[in-house]
Amino acid sequence: MNLDFSQVVPYIPFILEGIWVTLGFVIVAIIIGFFIGALVALVKISHVKFLRQLADLYTSIFRGTPLILQLMIVYYGIPQLLEYDISPFLAAILTFGLNSSAYVSEIVRAGIQAVDKGQLEAAQALGIPYRQTMVKIILPQAMKNILPALMNEFITLTKESAIVSVINYLDLMRRARVVGADLYSPLEPLIIVGVIYYMMVMVLTMLGKLLERRLRKSD
Ligand code: ARG
Repeated sequence: MNLDFSQVVPYIPFILEGIWVTLGFVIVAIIIGFFIGALVALVKISHVKFLRQLADLYTSIFRGTPLILQLMIVYYGIPQLLEYDISPFLAAILTFGLNSSAYVSEIVRAGIQAVDKGQLEAAQALGIPYRQTMVKIILPQAMKNILPALMNEFITLTKESAIVSVINYLDLMRRARVVGADLYSPLEPLIIVGVIYYMMVMVLTMLGKLLERRLRKSD
């Protein structure tokens, strides 16, 4: 057995810095993914068939290919096609944002469609305008379906963020590899960032539970 965490101590600040690098782009990607995803979901429940099909195609492409491939296509493809030297940060938020939006669009669509049809019919019978029905009646109920799945998506994104290390972005994962190479001892830094990822996911899980409880109270 050859496990010595003390040799990692000088590298701890370097590793911890990775938390902000990782969180930074994950948070931006989550925001991008949420807004584009909500938009795509609205298209999916709209009555324009052509747009609906387009939205479905969008979702199927992003869900049907590996995220790591999408990341590399953006990072290496944009410089080749547009002669624009994209930074790892930009490539990461773009890819993760778009990829997540595909998943979010399904979460939001399913959440809205799971609200009982009678709700819409009752609102229509009362003469409530469609917009108001959506905002005041359907969406608040849909939120309860959407939230847990959305929280799951954020957790997935946080963990998947580790693949940005393949485009040389100095996130947590990449830092663990750098330190491991420096020490000729890969395991200790990997275990340390593993614990950090786990704690980040636990915080997200707690946040989700808190939000869910809040929503349930409003029942
Ligand atoms: N590893 C999966 C892939 O490469 C994860 C995709 C990202 N998932 C997500 N919910 N945004 O396809």
